[in-house]
Amino acid sequence: MKKLLITAALSVAALPLAADEGMWQPHQLPSLKKELKAAGLKINPNKLTNLTSFPMGAIVSLGGCSAAFLSPEGLVATNHHCTYGSIQFNSTAEDNLIEKGFLAKSFKEELKAAPGSRVYVTEAVNDVTADIIGKLPASLSGIDRYKAIENNRKALISECESEEGYRCRVSAFHGGLEYFLIKQMEIKDVRLVYAPAGAIGKYGGDIDNWMWPRHTGDFSFYRAYVSKDGKPSEYSEDNVPYKPKHFLKVNADGVKDGEFVMIAGYPGSTNRYRTSVEVQNQFEWYYPTFRTLVHDYIDIIEKNAPEDSDARVKYASTLASLNNVEKNWGSMIESYGKGDFLQRKTKLESSLANWLDTDREMSEKHRDSINALNALIEENQKKQETEMKLWAMGRDALSSTAARLYRLALEKQKPDAEREPGYQERDMTRFEEGLKRFNRRWDADVAKELYKYFVGQYATLPMDQRVKSFDSAMGVGENFDEAAFAKTINTMFANTKLTDQETRLNWMTKSVNDFKNSSDPFIKLAVATYDENYQRELKEKQISGQFQQLRPKYMAAMIDYYDHLNKPIYADANSTLRITFGNVKGYSPNDGTFSVPFTTLEGLLAKNTGEEPFNSPEKQNKLIKEKMYGKYHDKDLDSVQVNYLTTVDITGGNSGSSTLNGNAEFVGLVFDGNYESIIGDWDYDPKLKRGIHVSSAYMLWVMEYVDGADNLIDEMTIIR
Ligand code: ARG
Repeated sequence: MKKLLITAALSVAALPLAADEGMWQPHQLPSLKKELKAAGLKINPNKLTNLTSFPMGAIVSLGGCSAAFLSPEGLVATNHHCTYGSIQFNSTAEDNLIEKGFLAKSFKEELKAAPGSRVYVTEAVNDVTADIIGKLPASLSGIDRYKAIENNRKALISECESEEGYRCRVSAFHGGLEYFLIKQMEIKDVRLVYAPAGAIGKYGGDIDNWMWPRHTGDFSFYRAYVSKDGKPSEYSEDNVPYKPKHFLKVNADGVKDGEFVMIAGYPGSTNRYRTSVEVQNQFEWYYPTFRTLVHDYIDIIEKNAPEDSDARVKYASTLASLNNVEKNWGSMIESYGKGDFLQRKTKLESSLANWLDTDREMSEKHRDSINALNALIEENQKKQETEMKLWAMGRDALSSTAARLYRLALEKQKPDAEREPGYQERDMTRFEEGLKRFNRRWDADVAKELYKYFVGQYATLPMDQRVKSFDSAMGVGENFDEAAFAKTINTMFANTKLTDQETRLNWMTKSVNDFKNSSDPFIKLAVATYDENYQRELKEKQISGQFQQLRPKYMAAMIDYYDHLNKPIYADANSTLRITFGNVKGYSPNDGTFSVPFTTLEGLLAKNTGEEPFNSPEKQNKLIKEKMYGKYHDKDLDSVQVNYLTTVDITGGNSGSSTLNGNAEFVGLVFDGNYESIIGDWDYDPKLKRGIHVSSAYMLWVMEYVDGADNLIDEMTIIR
């Protein structure tokens, strides 16, 4: 790694690359000093490497989304779509907080977030590559490698978590070339403080999702609570707001065109170093095929959970995610079809091969790495249709809950350290929380229709790919008889007790024999199919272990090649803390068109039709018509800035990240990317890649004038 960093520093001097590309690990930033300065960072970049000092100490993860502390009282700012599950959890069709919004005027009025909501404060990140793979012989089989890595991981995690209140994990970088141990304080009492009305927080809905120009107030606030002695603790009335050592000051002016911005957050995953074989399969088979499935998934929910019904509220989060994915994949398929990504990928591989031919040392080191990896990938692709269909069938909440409960009983027979990850003592709180979320996200009629559809899809697989024990337990024959299957599941749904929360929780403590003797139809199904599914799981792990051996070799070749080209390299996103920086900047979506990087209140109003999702609240409309800009007037725009575009390199998981200016002040939240940039997860294009942010100016404007959230504004430190 050291070598890489030095290379990065040199290359900066040699060729000023497009600085905006890159999701950097904080320790890499000092080597990008010049670029950061040129882009407009005012604070010392070395400050960004210390995770427990300002400003990094204010940056947190929600697990899946990013966030930051904005007050000394543990106030956490994130996106509306990141607290959406919690807003939904507190909503019913009659009392719909998604629609109305919610504001706690005092600590007492704050609502419990959905079970499982967390705030993670990263305190340490250490290279543990030697501990994880340092001693593994090259000759290990896939499954043995997989298990050895898993055991080494578990040992480090368990040692790290011996300090109470912490959650640790080991993340692989560059496909497993490097491993880092990450230690995070885990705050478990999280409360919903404020969410604007859905017609602000999700203005434009799924129509505007991934689109620019945009006018969405995609922001919301949680608060982190701890016990009186400042330690993470489960929800309790005695808990007190967490006092973070650092929080961000809020700049009420937002940003100017061209201004420096950076994002510290937790991007989920990118695929910037995949091989051409993977690229072709992904865009020509996987996305198009899977997208059809997602499309049907959405249709079934919409048909069976009518608008304004309780069932629709229950599926609000699921639908939002599915719609998001469907559009995301649609864009990627479109961009791939229009562009020359595959050709460029193939060209990169042949240049790499040509370079190896000219360099004997490198050739010996890396010669077969690409071919070996591609061979494994092709082998693995043979099962992909089966896997996809099994995956979809496994979405059924009752059968998967039963399977997980039975697995728990089996795993509990082993000493804790030997159990499968997910079933160790450290996982039990989450396990329970998952069981508790069930009823607020599930409806029998919708679930039956989905199950019928996905099993029907599964039943198109050839017999030798099917799960025989499933077929015989459910009476599914070679040709799917939908009516018979409907009858079977009607009876099962009617007779199972797993729809009851207490019953589900009770099963967590039952023995293997209790399961074997149960007459609950879903428990019986879980017991009957366990062995066969477990055998499949072992085969998967064998393959994962082979990837854990071959992917790092390929990445090592790639890194040496980048080194030769004098290009700094950053690892693909993996849900760990990264920093990306850039500037406020528009872009050209089409020949002859340029999109400016700001939207305004007038633009918001112009979009308003009164019909969802363009049904801005009357109060907001009136304020705009009266030009009530107040303190948030932007003279250049002669309005209030609502959303803006920047060149930061982000992806899903960055949602909710605070946008910082050159002085590390809060100037908004990133909540989306533009449609043309979505393929950027695979193929970065500086001309098209933009992040979409909600401006701090609009946030404060809504809080002050629309919702009267003065209590929260008073809590924050506002700079003008
Ligand atoms: N496109 C956003 C992302 O993936 C999610 C936005 C959620 N909003 C929505 N209207 N579905 O980061």
